[in-house]
Amino acid sequence: PTMKELAGLTELEERIRSRYGLRKVVIVSGDSEASEHVKRELGRAGAQVLRGYMAPGDVVAVTGGTTMAHVAGQLSSQRPLADIRFVPARGGLGESVDYQANTIVSTMAKRTGAQYRLLHVPDHLGEEAYQSLMQEPNIREIVEVIRSARIVLHGIGDAMVMARRRKEAEPAVAAMRSEGALAEAFGFYFDRSGNVVHRMPTAGLRLEEIQTAEVVIAIAGGRGKGEAIAAVMRFGHDDVLITDEAAALEMLRTF
Ligand code: BG6
Repeated sequence: PTMKELAGLTELEERIRSRYGLRKVVIVSGDSEASEHVKRELGRAGAQVLRGYMAPGDVVAVTGGTTMAHVAGQLSSQRPLADIRFVPARGGLGESVDYQANTIVSTMAKRTGAQYRLLHVPDHLGEEAYQSLMQEPNIREIVEVIRSARIVLHGIGDAMVMARRRKEAEPAVAAMRSEGALAEAFGFYFDRSGNVVHRMPTAGLRLEEIQTAEVVIAIAGGRGKGEAIAAVMRFGHDDVLITDEAAALEMLRTF
């Protein structure tokens, strides 16, 4: 038996996979919320899974976040993947530059010899700003590339933590809270059952693309994120989940 089998992780992966109807589940041991080492391992597992799905000509849309920064830092390829394009899934959040999707896709591309495109617009747009930005040929072109992604790789967060990080306006946060927002992923907020409770115009990926992309991969761990991960898995459009033991146990508990 491998170390993983001995630790019971293979069985845990299969339980999560079948309960949540996923194609593939990878679980690293420990709790990434409590240990930087585990978070790095989570990133390493994410990089490995992503490499396994990438095919020539792919557009890969990636979100930001601290977990994704670990994926980027450990992604590598022996030969340059010159025909792959990495693009940010959404616009900028205004958080630390290290954790922005633009920075992460450029790191991923440089480490693998792939290409990348950046999206220089804020994620939060009013209807009017959205309409006028979409008139810009340069922006429209990159947005079309983003929306053509075959692979989407995204993080998952707790709704209220991410609302703060995304600097949502107070009335919007109050509305989300009363609607039961529990999880956030790619700029959308989900309740416990996986219903989307909050959305706004975005120049990035819309729900349509999450629903139609061929491979949607979520990467998130930590005990405190277990319920949020479960909520996004109930939304039902992820194919692959990379998580840690602490979050996985929480996901079974809340099932
Ligand atoms: C954001 C993603 O950048 O990172 C979100 O857009 C995700 O979808 C969040 O919820 C998770 O961040 P972290 O730092 O907890 O990995």
